Amino acid sequence: MASTPGTIRVLTTLLLLARGSLSQLDVCGQPPRNSRIVGGEDAPAGAWPWQASLHNSSGHKFCGGSLINKDWVMTAAHCFSRTSGPVVYLGRQNQEGSNSNEVSRTVSQIIRHPNFNNVSRDNDIALLQLSSSVTFTNFIRPICLAAADSTFNRGTTSWVTGWGTIKRGVSLPSPQTLQEVDVPVTGNRNCFCKYNPRGRTITDNMICAGRDEGGKDSCQGDSGGPMVSKQGSVWVQAGVVSFGIGCARAQFPGVYARVSQYQSWINTRITSDQPGFVTFTSTGTDADLSATCTGLPRLIKKVSHTPTSPAYVRVEECCSNLYPKRIPASQIKSYKYTNLDCPKKAVIFTTLKGIEMCANPEDKQVQDIMEKLAGDWE
Ligand SMILES: *[C@@H]1O[C@H](CO)[C@@H](O)[C@H](O)[C@H]1NC(C)=O
Ligand SMILES: *[C@@H]1O[C@H](CO)[C@@H](O)[C@H](O)[C@H]1NC(C)=O
Repeated sequence: MASTPGTIRVLTTLLLLARGSLSQLDVCGQPPRNSRIVGGEDAPAGAWPWQASLHNSSGHKFCGGSLINKDWVMTAAHCFSRTSGPVVYLGRQNQEGSNSNEVSRTVSQIIRHPNFNNVSRDNDIALLQLSSSVTFTNFIRPICLAAADSTFNRGTTSWVTGWGTIKRGVSLPSPQTLQEVDVPVTGNRNCFCKYNPRGRTITDNMICAGRDEGGKDSCQGDSGGPMVSKQGSVWVQAGVVSFGIGCARAQFPGVYARVSQYQSWINTRITSDQPGFVTFTSTGTDADLSATCTGLPRLIKKVSHTPTSPAYVRVEECCSNLYPKRIPASQIKSYKYTNLDCPKKAVIFTTLKGIEMCANPEDKQVQDIMEKLAGDWE
């Protein structure tokens, strides 16, 4: 590194010329003070320089967040039912005593995801615009975000940081130093199988992490904080702490908003100095594909591209929730098989707007669409 600063600078300049928004990629996800391989409990100062602490106007900490460029912090939508005028702290290490590397900002705009569902916690993501820009230091730096085509196979190591309770109802001991835990990604099928019997749905907009034996997890008060994974020398945010059943309980992984689902939403809301998006790639076959349980849809394929076929779907009259319209194939987001109210096995298509409708799996056009939607579960 030290021997080739000229090369690096030239490359950097070219990238900046090529596209202004790439500037975040220069700085994001590269903490100068994180050389850690294995984690302890207390995070060393500066190890997670994107970590934000959100407080209400009387100083009470209510959520975490992550810095994604000099003006914006990302957090969970459920953090904002009533809280007005939050104060954001960056560069904070301890919740008690002074923090010499810290700055604070008020928030000029709160953007909750418009499709946030307070019951299912689907789309549990929000953006906070800081009242004024922060300057990056060794202790204050943005995180890179997982780009739309990222994959996180079961077992991918991730780290979660926060000042939340350490067990249900037990708050952090003084001086309340930022905590870090490493948790493996569980895979959505596996996670669905854990939560479905408890009446919670795991959607494509979520990503889960935890150990089968429990013991390490995010907990109350960590909400909105980042779940990150390292690729090469760069840290990439995969999730936003959203919910769980209990904390660190065996069989219940933590559930996070899946950041890679929101690249286009984030880029429509932050139009200048856009956050750095990095494609995180898992290699090999995802072990989660073999997870199975009752209730798990036999086949739900993730859309891995934008369907463009002009073909139309003929909707079969086999279901009570028949959608009586001709719908362009490009509007179909995903499909699954069902026996629901049908004399024979049917396919349920879900449109981009979330409308479900029946289709005949023996129909050639239907088959074409299913084939187009083929892609791996993440
Ligand atoms: C801040 O949060 C605490 C704890 O929930 C609450 O008691 C206090 O009233 C809140 N302050 C404001 C201004 O909302
Ligand atoms: C979610 O719903 C609960 C219960 O109805 C309510 O107390 C809470 O304020 C809601 N939260 C948000 C973020 O809307």
